[in-house]
Amino acid sequence: MNEKIVYIGMSADILHHGHLNIINEGKKIGTVIIGLLTDEAIASYKRLPLITYEDRKRIIENIKGVERVIPQETLDYSSNLNKIKPDYVVHGSDWKTGVQSETRKKVIETLSKWGGKLIEPDYTDGISSTQLINNIKEKGVTPNTRLSTLKRLLNSKPISRFMEAHNGLTGLIAEKTKYDNNEFDGMWVSSLTVSTIKGKPDTEVIDFSSRFQTIEEILEVTTKPIIVDGDTGGKIEHFKFTVRTLERLGISAVIIEDKVGNKRNSLFGDDVKQEQDTIEHFCKKIEVGKKSLITDDFMIIARIESLIMNKGYEDALNRANEYIKSGADGIMIHSKNKDTTELEKFCNEYNKFENRKPLIVVPTAYAHLTEKELNESLGANVVIYANHLLRSAYPSMQLTAESILKHSRGEEASEKYCMSIKEIITLIPEDY
Ligand code: SPV
Ligand code: MG
Repeated sequence: MNEKIVYIGMSADILHHGHLNIINEGKKIGTVIIGLLTDEAIASYKRLPLITYEDRKRIIENIKGVERVIPQETLDYSSNLNKIKPDYVVHGSDWKTGVQSETRKKVIETLSKWGGKLIEPDYTDGISSTQLINNIKEKGVTPNTRLSTLKRLLNSKPISRFMEAHNGLTGLIAEKTKYDNNEFDGMWVSSLTVSTIKGKPDTEVIDFSSRFQTIEEILEVTTKPIIVDGDTGGKIEHFKFTVRTLERLGISAVIIEDKVGNKRNSLFGDDVKQEQDTIEHFCKKIEVGKKSLITDDFMIIARIESLIMNKGYEDALNRANEYIKSGADGIMIHSKNKDTTELEKFCNEYNKFENRKPLIVVPTAYAHLTEKELNESLGANVVIYANHLLRSAYPSMQLTAESILKHSRGEEASEKYCMSIKEIITLIPEDY
């Protein structure tokens, strides 16, 4: 047996011959230990892997020439390297530029402490994990896989970001938009934007049959997890059917708010009459919803409106505790204030709960806070951008309409506010 130790870090989400080439190169020079990146480590610099850590580990362990698989918990190799002190690290040459170039530098530095070497075989041409993953994504996703992704995200990322979608097109924007390595983790089907695009107020006037159609439209063209705004959840007797349908469709969670009667949008605050539900009645709704579920993965999240109704953070804390006792899988705390003092008071105490569940925030009013700040100062695990796609689209539509009236023709609007005809006709590919 060869005495030299070879360390190979990899994600191995979609295993291909490029991975086998690297393992083979390692085998030639020593005993191969694979540092398999955990879901958390992968999610820290790109998307959540398609395959869970446990499943990826089972596959890699069974490859000829792999002696051992250990978790690599960060993108940074240092901690595992310092423990193992390998003679060699083997990695494809493709990481010399891009997000991983810093990691590479640190690997070289760390290895130099004991005279270890980095070996970089040529990257295998004609194969790219990212391309393979995109191909798989284009084929779609089963309802079960999509449904369970929210829980995997919550276990792997400090904070996940959800973007509002109200039809297929906005679903596609939430699905596909990327900036550097950032993308949205999923979609929020907002009652406000879904009502607004139909020219109706956000008062539960759009019933669930219509909401299901919108949801289907989004499901059809996307693969990411979806959280549905369930408004008040309606009557307890009806809520259990809503939950069943959402679960069957592959939705990951429904959020219901503790209001009754004529529901109005929360951001009105006390400018309009709003009535909060009793703790007993709302807990019953959560219990009935939970009982009707088939899987363990679907989440019923309780949304607390105490801060919206100026009832104070203590009332919100009391409700959070009771809702969790009744089975709520998460808490959304809503606030309409730019000043987050009261919200912070709630979150500080909430984060000490022994039975604490994931915390969801909707920073429409306190949009100045970054995701990092929401996570670090409030303890938020999910941030929802609840209305931004519609709020940005409407002003340009309005300007376009005015411009046409002003000039009695479309040319000015086309030039100033519109995408080109070529762009619109090719925006959605004909085959998928
Ligand atoms: C929605 O998006 O419909 C919401 C969030 O419920 S809010 O509009 O802030 O109440
Ligand atoms: Mg709503």
